[in-house]
Amino acid sequence: MTRKWFSPLVSLLIFSCSYLQFLDGATVTDSIKPGQSITRSETLISAGEIFELGFFSLGNSTNYFVGIWYKKIPVKTVVWVANREQPLTRPPGILTINMEGNLVISDGRTSYSVSELSSIRNSTSSATLLDSGNLILRDSNSDVLWQSFDYPSHTFLPGMMLGSNNKTGKAWTLTSWRSEEDPAPGSFSMKLDPENSAQFFIMQGSERHWSSGVWNGRNFSQVPEMRLNRIFNFSYVTNQNESYFTYDLYDASIISRWVLDLSGQIQQLSWLEKAQEWNLFWAQPRPQCDVYAICGAFGRCSQDNMPLCECMQGFEPRFSTDWNLGDWSGGCMRRTPLQCRNIAKKDKFLVRPKMRLPKMPQSLAVGSAQNCELACLNNCSCTAYAYGGDLQL
Ligand SMILES: *[C@@H]1O[C@H](CO)[C@@H](O)[C@H](O)[C@H]1NC(C)=O
Ligand SMILES: *[C@@H]1O[C@H](CO)[C@@H](O)[C@H](O)[C@H]1NC(C)=O
Ligand SMILES: *[C@@H]1O[C@H](CO)[C@@H](O)[C@H](O)[C@H]1NC(C)=O
Ligand SMILES: *[C@@H]1O[C@H](CO)[C@@H](O)[C@H](O)[C@H]1NC(C)=O
Ligand SMILES: *[C@@H]1O[C@H](CO)[C@@H](O)[C@H](O)[C@H]1NC(C)=O
Ligand SMILES: *[C@@H]1O[C@H](CO)[C@@H](O)[C@H](O)[C@H]1NC(C)=O
Ligand SMILES: *[C@@H]1O[C@H](CO)[C@@H](O)[C@H](O)[C@H]1NC(C)=O
Repeated sequence: MTRKWFSPLVSLLIFSCSYLQFLDGATVTDSIKPGQSITRSETLISAGEIFELGFFSLGNSTNYFVGIWYKKIPVKTVVWVANREQPLTRPPGILTINMEGNLVISDGRTSYSVSELSSIRNSTSSATLLDSGNLILRDSNSDVLWQSFDYPSHTFLPGMMLGSNNKTGKAWTLTSWRSEEDPAPGSFSMKLDPENSAQFFIMQGSERHWSSGVWNGRNFSQVPEMRLNRIFNFSYVTNQNESYFTYDLYDASIISRWVLDLSGQIQQLSWLEKAQEWNLFWAQPRPQCDVYAICGAFGRCSQDNMPLCECMQGFEPRFSTDWNLGDWSGGCMRRTPLQCRNIAKKDKFLVRPKMRLPKMPQSLAVGSAQNCELACLNNCSCTAYAYGGDLQL
């Protein structure tokens, strides 16, 4: 018992002695050098105080991460996460450049190498957070050895590239977060078509969720909002070495970002200084009936309706506040419970045309529509059936 209690303490002490080096007082810095580190309560701040790098945790989660966020935006907006899949779970935590010149995050017990530089290269002389939000490792000649822009999380910032390197096969892709509180890679990713057709796909696992349409020199055909205007300079670059899409802002005072959100939607947002909030400029795919179960259980989606979703006859929103705010994921619930097995008050079905089967329908071999109805009626967990064409609810 004593030993168990003792050993973490010993390792903690050794760890503190060998690594902990504080930066000079409280001076703001944008760089660290080999042997230096920042602790959980310290941050790096880019020279123009645009971005900040440090440790953070999300919501009620006890996991914590190293990431980059906007320094001046009060709504903490994380644009990059160093250790998405390797959260730290207990204090302390430090970020340092180790002897091999790699950027390393450590909690004393485990450490995670953010960069993976081979030792043959000239070693890192500094790590600097730039005003673009890019964290770069440079050698003594100021050549860039590694940069965070090469490892995007879910955010696409001005100056970043999305695409692929034809030589190394390396791709610059966005990957959604797993949840609001977990930046680990979620199920959506946005990448360049590997067939080099100059279009981007949002993938859900290995299935294609959305396509941008082909770049025509000015815009992507399926993103009409992406007009070449006075704010953004979009470009698609392709040559024998690499193919990528990038953008810049003509007016540096504008703060704008693209993000691949939890639902697999790519959004362009701009910060509104007056309102102190992010404004959605455009999003794709647009919320529409093609998105499976967009209206939740027993919700009905009509492309031409505003709002898009309504409850089926006899149903009401499960969470009416959310529903009215356009969050339909809670779906609808029955006003009156089913009479299932109550022979005296038999349930009836309602014909609903133009419906689609659920993702996991159950098929039965029955001879007729009547038998199908009967089979459903006799099973209390069966709520709808389709025989041939229309769905009966
Ligand atoms: C955090 O925990 C509190 C109390 O347990 C709870 O009320 C709140 O909803 C939680 N927040 C999130 C984002 O889960
Ligand atoms: C390493 O740095 C030296 C000078 O400091 C330079 O001459 C040399 O080209 C560099 N090598 C690489 C691979 O960058
Ligand atoms: C997209 O580019 C095409 C070709 O240059 C152009 O004709 C079209 O007007 C552009 N669309 C928008 C919305 O700007
Ligand atoms: C737009 O971006 C491209 C590529 O980065 C650049 O060559 C071009 O000069 C930019 N255009 C303007 C008007 O800044
Ligand atoms: C990628 O490189 C190969 C060989 O180096 C070349 O044949 C091919 O055309 C290149 N692809 C593009 C899109 O340039
Ligand atoms: C492609 O890469 C080679 C070798 O790094 C370089 O010499 C060449 O200029 C590059 N081509 C383009 C179009 O960037
Ligand atoms: C009743 O329906 C549910 C859902 O469709 C199904 O999982 C279950 O196997 C059915 N039970 C019987 C006895 O058919």
